[in-house]
Amino acid sequence: MTEDKRKKIYEGKAKILYKGPQPNTIIQYFKDDATAFNNKKFAVINGKGVLNNRISSFLMEKIEHIGIPTHFIKRLNMREQLVHAVEIIPIEVVIRNIAAGSICKRFNLKEGEALPRAIVEYYYKSDELNDPLVSNEHITAFEWANSNELEDIFNMSLRINDFLIGVFSSIGIKVIDFKLEFGRFYKDENLEIILADELSPDNFRLWDNKTNKKLDKDRFREDLGNMKEAYQEVAERLGVL
Ligand code: TMP
Ligand code: ASP
Repeated sequence: MTEDKRKKIYEGKAKILYKGPQPNTIIQYFKDDATAFNNKKFAVINGKGVLNNRISSFLMEKIEHIGIPTHFIKRLNMREQLVHAVEIIPIEVVIRNIAAGSICKRFNLKEGEALPRAIVEYYYKSDELNDPLVSNEHITAFEWANSNELEDIFNMSLRINDFLIGVFSSIGIKVIDFKLEFGRFYKDENLEIILADELSPDNFRLWDNKTNKKLDKDRFREDLGNMKEAYQEVAERLGVL
């Protein structure tokens, strides 16, 4: 094995970022590591990174095609993709269609209950604070994003939700909820908000339409087993394997 001489910029829980070959580009490497509950739970799921790289590349490209700008440039190989470097906005945007996970505890809802409409939530990205739920007011007052940026983020998130519901419903899958991250990108000296990070079953809740079988990271969070097989099923149904 040759030593990896690329410059590592950042290592997160599921990905490593390396300096890309052109200025302002980054190589995103997808690891097999799975974590949950802010690193309290950890496992290596062989092949997860390969599946997430494929699923995420496919969905990013599709989203770009409907006119939403993303950081995605191209998939490079089994585990890596080339993306634009962005300044990440420190907010996790969660879009929910059906109650599951933390919203059930917060409002005493039953898992699987349809929400009255899609709900967009913001969490401040901080492992130390456990990603607390925040409002528009916190975001603008602490200058994590300004109100124009937040409006773009909100509108893009709902469009992405509508689009993904359609993509997944055509392959018999319900989009329960998912998490997005956005970044600032300078294009010809203009500042643009674009979709960043990844779109994979690590950041989505996806249930089979008929059986409600979970096809996402809840298999790991809830010790349901067969996590890789579930991710593989998503990739196969999307036609990306
Ligand atoms: P939650 O119900 O735990 O708040 O999660 C909502 C959605 O966001 C779910 O699809 C999983 C995803 N998510 C992440 O991608 N990263 C996180 O750190 C958390 C807490 C949730
Ligand atoms: N992504 C977070 C972690 O790795 C939380 C989660 O997805 O449940 O700890």
